Formats: sequence, C-alpha cells, structure tokens
Amino acid sequence: MTTALAEPAACPLEDYLSEPDHSMDTRIAAARRALGDRLLILGHHYQRDEVVRFADITGDSYKLAMAGARSKAEFIVFCGVHFMAESADVLGRSGQQVILPDLNAGCSMADMAEISQVEHCWEQLVKLGITDDSGKGIVPMTYMNSTAAIKAFCGERGGLVCTSSNADGAFRWGFERAKKVLFLPDQHLGRNTAYAMGIPREDMAVWDPFQIMGGNTPERLRKARVILWKGHCSVHQRFLPEHIDKVRAKHPGIKVVVHPECRWEVCQKADALGSTENILKIVREAPRGTKFAIGTEIHLVNRLAKEMAAQDKLVMSLDNTGCLCTTMFRISPQHLCWALENLAQGNVVNRIVVEDEVKQWARVALERMLDIRGGAVLAKAV
Ligand code: 13P
Ligand code: SF4
Repeated sequence: MTTALAEPAACPLEDYLSEPDHSMDTRIAAARRALGDRLLILGHHYQRDEVVRFADITGDSYKLAMAGARSKAEFIVFCGVHFMAESADVLGRSGQQVILPDLNAGCSMADMAEISQVEHCWEQLVKLGITDDSGKGIVPMTYMNSTAAIKAFCGERGGLVCTSSNADGAFRWGFERAKKVLFLPDQHLGRNTAYAMGIPREDMAVWDPFQIMGGNTPERLRKARVILWKGHCSVHQRFLPEHIDKVRAKHPGIKVVVHPECRWEVCQKADALGSTENILKIVREAPRGTKFAIGTEIHLVNRLAKEMAAQDKLVMSLDNTGCLCTTMFRISPQHLCWALENLAQGNVVNRIVVEDEVKQWARVALERMLDIRGGAVLAKAV
C-alpha cells in the first residue's frame, strides 16, 4: 500500500494552474537553484518538453530506478508516473523523500493487475499443484509497471521485477529457478520476450483475472511454461501491423523500431525492439540519412525527430494519429513549479510513501532486478 502525503501547502496548486506554461520556466529554475544538491529531478522520456528540460537525469524505467537508488539527494522529484515514484521510494535511502508532482499520474497498465486478483490467481495455481506458496513451481515476475504491493508479492515468493530493458535476463533468471514463469501485468512484453527466447506461443497461457481459472483449463495451465497476465498498455496497443506495411510502402528502406509493449504481430514485423532508452540509442547510433518509424509515445518521437533532423535522419511516428500517454502528460510545468517552490519553502507536497511491510519485499524484488542486465534477446539488428 502507498500513502500519498499531500500536506498543507504554503503555495496552493490552484494559484499555478491558470498560469501559462512559459511563465513557469524562470520560477522552476530559481526553485531548483535554491534547493541545489538537496534535489534530484528524474524525467522519463515520455515527459513533455516543458518539463523534461528540467530533469537532472532522463531515462527509461531501469535507468531512472538505478539513478534514484544511487542518489544521495534529500528530495527526488519524479517526473514520470506513480509506479516509478513508488519504486524510487522503495529503493531510496532513509530520510530521502520522493515527490510525484501530480498524484493523478498513474499508469493504466499497472491498474490492470490488483493485488487481490494476483493473490487469487496464485491460490488457484497452488490448488492445482503447479506451485507451493513459496514459488517452488513457478517464478512470479512483474514488469516495473505495477504496484509496490505486486512487486512485494513477487519478492516474497522468490520472484523479481523486470523492465523492458532487462526482461530477457529476468526470464533467464526465472527459468534457472523453476520450470514456469508467471508474468505480470503486460501480456505483450511477456509474450514478446518469451517468444524471442525460443518459447513457442502454444507453451504460453493467458490469465484473464475476470474469468474462472483465468479462462483456462487445469491442463492448459499445467502445460504452459509461461502464464501471461491479461494486461496491456493502451498507448502501445494502438500500433498495428498494417501501420508497418503502410510506412514501408511509402518510405522504402525505412527502419521500424518499436517498444516491446506493442502487440506480438507488430514486434514480429519490426526491425528492432527496445526500451525507451534503447530506442534512442538505436536511432542516435544509426548512419546519417537513415529513416525511422517509431512505435512508442509521441513526446519521445517528436523530440527525437527534432534532434535527428540535424543529422539528416528522418524520424516519424509509426501511427500518424500520434500516441499520447495521458497520464505521463499530467506532469505539467505548473505542477513541477508548485512542487519545487513548496519544497524550497520547506513544504513537502505529494510525497509518495510505501508502507514498511510492503517495502521490505518490494525492495528484494527490485534489487534482484537492478542486478540483471539484458536486452540482447529482444533487440534485432536494424
Ligand atoms: P521504459 O522502461 O522503456 O521507459 O518503459 C516504460 C513505459 O511505461 C513504457 O510505456
Ligand atoms: Fe503506462 Fe502505457 Fe503510459 Fe507506459 S505508456 S506509463 S505503460 S499507460
């Protein structure tokens, strides 16, 4: 369980929300200067330009979790979404405080697995004799995009957390310990990773939390090597194989790079898969003149397109309607300014606190993740 401590603020949020974006810049910069090295601002690659330009470190979930865990700053202001801030609190030092500038910045995928549903699924697997409660028969593994309670659930049962940059390493870790993996909550990342590691789709079952026995027969569950939770990212699920056909027909030779949260059919057609950080790396390291269609959130794509224009590389979104993560978008310059000016005045607002009993096992699962490298299995050469 997480508590968000919204303490009474000297500067009320309402005073900021009606101000124009650009008027926040000098105020954010001044508050940041005043806080000095007591403050670390982390910014995910999906953040808006007006916000991410103030981040001390930008990155994917793995890089930001690592940066938070290594930081000695008193305050970590997380420009990202709730599960990222929770993880920073779990991995943080004692006395460190993590702030999420807008508490409404959640993740619809993380919301697709509730701890009570996961516990129910596990009970069924125990009843079927697939595992004992300690996870002897199946390793529970959760994508970073999940609540701290689910991370703790996995940690306590011999499992771990992974991100899109080390999911293959995490699967290998799991299969060294058991014959099966339960993967939460993104079916696509789980399927894409397991398939890339040579596990055929018929050896994977999908667990639908709204159906009896997850919509499976006992035989199906007993036979499956991977059980995938039926969750997805509504942003990445919008990319379709026909988008790839269309862009290739229009721009012969174009390279398609997508995030592994995209559906299997899209990942199969793409030239390369990568976490947000790896997508940037692939495009930045490509020769001049290369063209790219990118299947991920639009803020990353637009920023990369601007940056790469100088190198004569064309970067466009795979779906020209543009895929926006509305929860990442909630972190506005107004919210960031409000959080920082309050901090500078000694008021901690929107602090994210994970309860101690959850923290203990969530930390075990996250620390296992930080030790794991990966990415090579998912990546294909462009
Ligand atoms: P990354 O770890 O690749 O940044 O992914 C996080 C995320 O939420 C993508 O939708
Ligand atoms: Fe969650 Fe999808 Fe947004 Fe990533 S892009 S934070 S998975 S809703």
